[in-house]
Amino acid sequence: MQDKSNNKVARGEFATRLGVIAATVGSAVGLGNIWGFPYTAHENGGGAFLIVYLVCVFLIGIPVICAEFVLGRGTHKNVLGAFRQLCRYKTLHYIGYISILAAVLIVSFYSVVAGWTFEYTIEAVSGAMTSGSGGDYQEYFHEFSTSAWKPILWIVIFIGVNFFIVSRSIQKGIEKISNIMMPLLFVILFVMVVNSFFLDGFNQGINFMFSCDFSKITPTVVIKAMGQAFFSLSLGLSCLLIYSSYFTDEENLTRTAAIIAVLDTLVAILSGIIIFSALATYKAENVGGPGLVFCVLPDIFGNMPFGYVWASLFFLLLLFASITSSISMLEIPIAFIHEEFKVSRQVAAMIMSVVAIAGAVFCSLSFGPLRDATIFGKTIFDIFNFLAECVFLPLGGIIFSIVVGWVLEKHFVYGQLTNNGTLRTPRFILKTIVFLMRYVSPVLIAMVFLYGLGLFDF
Ligand code: TRP
Repeated sequence: MQDKSNNKVARGEFATRLGVIAATVGSAVGLGNIWGFPYTAHENGGGAFLIVYLVCVFLIGIPVICAEFVLGRGTHKNVLGAFRQLCRYKTLHYIGYISILAAVLIVSFYSVVAGWTFEYTIEAVSGAMTSGSGGDYQEYFHEFSTSAWKPILWIVIFIGVNFFIVSRSIQKGIEKISNIMMPLLFVILFVMVVNSFFLDGFNQGINFMFSCDFSKITPTVVIKAMGQAFFSLSLGLSCLLIYSSYFTDEENLTRTAAIIAVLDTLVAILSGIIIFSALATYKAENVGGPGLVFCVLPDIFGNMPFGYVWASLFFLLLLFASITSSISMLEIPIAFIHEEFKVSRQVAAMIMSVVAIAGAVFCSLSFGPLRDATIFGKTIFDIFNFLAECVFLPLGGIIFSIVVGWVLEKHFVYGQLTNNGTLRTPRFILKTIVFLMRYVSPVLIAMVFLYGLGLFDF
């Protein structure tokens, strides 16, 4: 039943350990960290939120990453193939379709925000953002995001870049681009943090991120932190499952999971420091949500010494982060089409790019011409976002941890986590991970799920 069938021949594989780390961390580090984390932390109590967030990364993040890794690396198959190979109940593989559908929904609304990022990167790099004409970016953003064709153009360009990457082999596409973009991303982040250190508002920014007011920890904050950790670590969609299916059998799964969790959290915290120091220095009014990065920051860059440099670096950072994340979302359906229907990667990538553009265009138009096309008061963008984040991701997370924690044979799971006993990972670490996978993460995720559906309120 759980035999490792030997049909790896035609399958891609990451060539190096650096490639494995760059690609998986690249999937995790994205708009969720640099754009989402700072304002969510801001709205939910700063340091208090951070503590709850860290607890969630440990209690849910690491076990679910390991669960996805066991399924992916244990089978070297796409999500449907993995379930088909591992689960006794054949119908269970239909679960894989949830991931495929959720990936299409997420990549659709993600590409809209990534398209905005692309436009802003060009604005920044061309010098228009900081040319001193004193643009009011609040208005600019409103006009841009609600216009019909301009955001669509950027969506097509963004997904075009994605297509260029994912239509190639794993090594020449995803691995190569991650190996270039991720080190650059960390260098940019480091340079920007050093610059923040010299800003007048640095202490205030730090205070904000780390000062802890425990009275601010409410059940809602806990739920928000869990949701944020989930999205930020790319959990529940099978991104990490599909990437791990390209790992070699020598890869240390628990260590890789820990590296992803640490680096992803580090990027979120450093982005918070950069953004809050800048806000404090320029006494900018903090607008939450998209406004923070797309309305407030550009105005701040306009007033900063060497604003051109900082604006360009910041938006390049955001662009790299979003590209390395969106390719991981696209890889889920591409691997599925490529392996299940035996078509080439290029054709699979072409099909998915067209589907993603179509989905993203709908999401984008829901800010402008289609803003009145709502269901229960939610626009198309909101509905895609809600279905993916509040329904499919938690559902995926619960299923992955239950299947690995309860359905698969124990010796198979431990075999994967220890590379059949060849790794010297301490026993208590493995036991803790499996315990969390069985008892803790499914329950906690179920709470987020029910809360998201409005069935569970405080
Ligand atoms: N984690 C990425 C971010 O922080 C987004 C992302 C990529 C994602 N793959 C995912 C989110 C899978 C949920 C599930 O922006």
